[in-house]
Amino acid sequence: MRMTIRRIPFWVAILLSAIVGLWLGLLGRPVPVLEGPRYRTVAHHAVRGFPRRLAQYEGVFWEPRDTSMLRRLIGKGDVFEDKTVLEIGAGTGLLSLCCLQAGARRVIATDINPAAVANTRYNADLLGYGKRLAVRRVSRRRPGAFSVVKPTEKFHYIISNPPWEDRKPRTIEEYALCDDNFDLLRSILAGLKTHLEPGGRAYLVYGCVEAVEYVQRLAPRHDLHVRLLDNRRLDELPEVFLPGMLIEVTPEPSMPGTTN
Ligand SMILES: C[S@@+](CC[C@H](N)C(=O)[O-])C[C@H]1O[C@@H](n2cnc3c(N)ncnc32)[C@H](O)[C@@H]1O
Repeated sequence: MRMTIRRIPFWVAILLSAIVGLWLGLLGRPVPVLEGPRYRTVAHHAVRGFPRRLAQYEGVFWEPRDTSMLRRLIGKGDVFEDKTVLEIGAGTGLLSLCCLQAGARRVIATDINPAAVANTRYNADLLGYGKRLAVRRVSRRRPGAFSVVKPTEKFHYIISNPPWEDRKPRTIEEYALCDDNFDLLRSILAGLKTHLEPGGRAYLVYGCVEAVEYVQRLAPRHDLHVRLLDNRRLDELPEVFLPGMLIEVTPEPSMPGTTN
């Protein structure tokens, strides 16, 4: 019994020194970084001109037919070479990556969907464009088009394939399709003059007659000029159509046939 009593402090000491040693050992090591939520990749898409397939995360928008006209313009000649670009609502990053591939100096991509923010970052790193791209997450409490852009930040191009329908989104995924009261559209137009470089241009894509007509009506109220870079007539199209219509919006009137 006496032996046992004498041994207890000894084993306790061993146990304590093991715990302290382990703790000190851990202190010397880098603290494990807590990773954010992991997103499931639901598809890998081949895109003409890209050396690798783009990943699409679960809940992130994918419909490249929306933007076929804008992507053609971005890839044309050296239009985007050495230019700065803001993309509002990047999704998988498809448009931002096209700009980077076309030689854009710097691209800032935003999205309200955290999965889209992670998806754009992933695809940019995959293609080796990560250093020229910053991805910023927009909060649902401040969803304005320029809420994550400093008042002094200006761009040669502001591009967006925003949600097309005037409807309230019920889930984060529905933010890709629904723009309640066209709030996002109105905030894009309201901020263009502040955030475009002199001579800069905005390119929007809408495949919805109501939205295109709204841009045409609202832009002049912000002293902006609108050109539809599309041969189709709005009155001959269904209410929602593909591919999306390419709309140029500029603070100064731009010459037909020019893209900078
Ligand atoms: C039609 S999808 C276009 C995605 C991508 N640009 C493309 O063309 O594949 C619209 C995107 O805008 C994002 N979005 C919606 N509201 C937004 C907001 N207020 N600010 C930033 N992004 C927003 C959605 O999450 C979605 O990723």
